[in-house]
Amino acid sequence: MSTKNERPDSDDAAAATPPRPSRRRFLQSAAAAATVGAAPHLRAQTQTPTPAAPPTEVRAPVPGRPVTLTINGRAYTLQLEPRVTLLDALREYAGLMGTKKGCDRGQCGACTVIADGRRINSCLTLAVMHEGENITTVEGLASNGVLSPLQRAFIEHDAFQCGYCTPGQLCSATALLNEFRNGTASTVTADVRSRPPQLSDDEIRERMSGNICRCGAYVNIVAAVRAVHEAGGQSVASGSGSGSGGIASSVIENTSGSDHRRNA
Ligand code: FES
Ligand code: FES
Repeated sequence: MSTKNERPDSDDAAAATPPRPSRRRFLQSAAAAATVGAAPHLRAQTQTPTPAAPPTEVRAPVPGRPVTLTINGRAYTLQLEPRVTLLDALREYAGLMGTKKGCDRGQCGACTVIADGRRINSCLTLAVMHEGENITTVEGLASNGVLSPLQRAFIEHDAFQCGYCTPGQLCSATALLNEFRNGTASTVTADVRSRPPQLSDDEIRERMSGNICRCGAYVNIVAAVRAVHEAGGQSVASGSGSGSGGIASSVIENTSGSDHRRNA
């Protein structure tokens, strides 16, 4: 007979104590409980009717029509839908891949070309609107293999890294020099009633502000434009090359000019 303070022997103790669950069994139970708890919510989600997607409107393709564009002095007759942008016409139809597509929404300037002497964002305008105009792309800036003064200046001043923005920068800067020569003011011109006396770095920065360079080559781009301006648009600081040749110079000399980029 055992007394009150006697310890039970080991078999009796094992029988009286409930078995402790193993860690693995505990985790399995917890996972099962969580699943059961979430089930009503999941059922509610799956039972929510999904609104039917509106039927997609399928539009019949618009037939193209012949559009004649004069690009870099050459006539291209392209079969274009009316909604084809000038940028796509240049790249996809005329095969002139120099003009770059960056944002395709008028924010980066990579697609800048010159239309009748005025710089435009070619992604924001339709090709059919430019029949009869003279379009100059980066491929048209050099003449007979001789780079334009600005192209040489960009090389000499190391004004690019990846080069993606460079065609737009070159076209924009070419038209910029023309605008300045024609006496157009910018928003940083102190007195807009008089001809800006000098193409300052502030003027260049403001007038080139529509052309983004993700490599950040801005300092050297400004230096290149300034060099060409100070050399009269005919040669760069080194005075190398044929100087006065090239479509860039022709554009500078022969167009009526404007003060701001035109988007249509
Ligand atoms: S692609 Fe960026 S402005 Fe046209
Ligand atoms: S050189 Fe790379 S984006 Fe301008």
